[in-house]
Amino acid sequence: MFRKLLHPTDFSECSAKAFEYVKALCENGIAEEVVLLHVVNKKRVEAMAMGVAWFGETALEFEEEFKDRLIKEAEEKLKKLSKEVKCRVKTIVCYGNPVKEILRVAEEEGVSLIIVGSHGRSNFEEVLLGSVSEELVRRAKAPVLVVRRDVKI
Ligand SMILES: Nc1ncnc2c1ncn2[C@@H]1O[C@H](COP(=O)(O)OP(=O)(O)OP(=O)(O)O)[C@@H](O)[C@H]1O
Ligand SMILES: [Mg+2]
Repeated sequence: MFRKLLHPTDFSECSAKAFEYVKALCENGIAEEVVLLHVVNKKRVEAMAMGVAWFGETALEFEEEFKDRLIKEAEEKLKKLSKEVKCRVKTIVCYGNPVKEILRVAEEEGVSLIIVGSHGRSNFEEVLLGSVSEELVRRAKAPVLVVRRDVKI
């Protein structure tokens, strides 16, 4: 039932907790395969580019630059994480809307369980569930394991 896992990560403290469950399911032989995924958020990159665009230079050039840099950084981080997993691992970095890309990869890869943190980088105190995890619970076809930010590991 949990043969192939999808772990979307934003490299936050909370997603690191979710990753502990990914590793455990691999170590005890329940899962056989893991897809580690990071989505570089296009909206965020566009906002960053708008913020630094100067007269004479378009935001578009900065967007490309930020995008490339963030994709590279994410690839390196995922590679590091993949070394900690004791089953077959695939790493994917996408560019676009996080929820949309996560749902697409979940379908394309035919995963049997999605493991996310309850919160991510924003980690607002008063928010019950981050918008990405909430949308995944609402829309994903595969079951979603949401790991609380205050879970003791
Ligand atoms: N860009 C992303 N790529 C891959 N996984 C992500 C991404 N963003 C969030 N996630 C996953 O979703 C979980 C919840 O993050 P989410 O973004 O919903 O919370 P938040 O950052 O606290 O709130 P919000 O983004 O709504 O302000 C993370 O722990 C991570 O597992
Ligand atoms: Mg977030």
